[in-house]
Amino acid sequence: MMNIVLIGFMGTGKTTAGRRLALRLGRPFFDTDAEVERVTGKAVRQIFDTLGGIRFRSEEALVIKRLSGGSGAVIATGGGAVLKPENLALLKSSGIIVLLTASPEVIYRRVRNKKTRPLLNQGGDLMNIIMSTLAQREAKYSEAADITISTDRGTPEETVSLIIDQLRERNII
Ligand code: S3P
Repeated sequence: MMNIVLIGFMGTGKTTAGRRLALRLGRPFFDTDAEVERVTGKAVRQIFDTLGGIRFRSEEALVIKRLSGGSGAVIATGGGAVLKPENLALLKSSGIIVLLTASPEVIYRRVRNKKTRPLLNQGGDLMNIIMSTLAQREAKYSEAADITISTDRGTPEETVSLIIDQLRERNII
């Protein structure tokens, strides 16, 4: 059974939608950030602060390698996970890639009060950081995606229903 892999920018709701999707399909759920935290015993923020971004990416790559070796799970990835071609290749070979998107304004609203995302908490204007990082990544996300769902409107449960419709249409579930 194929994995269902959620990708996309920070604040697009990958973890929330992924957890609910897994529940509705009766499949196991994994979140790559949570797995990195479990393996290292440190919060993502703490890893960036004390060990650095390169170390985070290598821990993330190890988690992706392990999870791609399994099947039938729902996997929510961190926003930078698919930027490494090796990660994307592994995830693609193990499942279907579902891209969640949101407008910069919606992302801003969802992330502005959170202190857990080191890339967005470096000081500087948050909206500028979101817009420039999104601009750098957008093409890579769309190229990677088999299915794309906007999360600008609707509840997480509605997002999950849209994902399920798309997966059914493709005979994946
Ligand atoms: C990152 C996204 C985060 C987390 C880390 C780096 C990124 O995950 O992996 O802070 O580079 O976009 P979420 O997308 O779950 O916030």
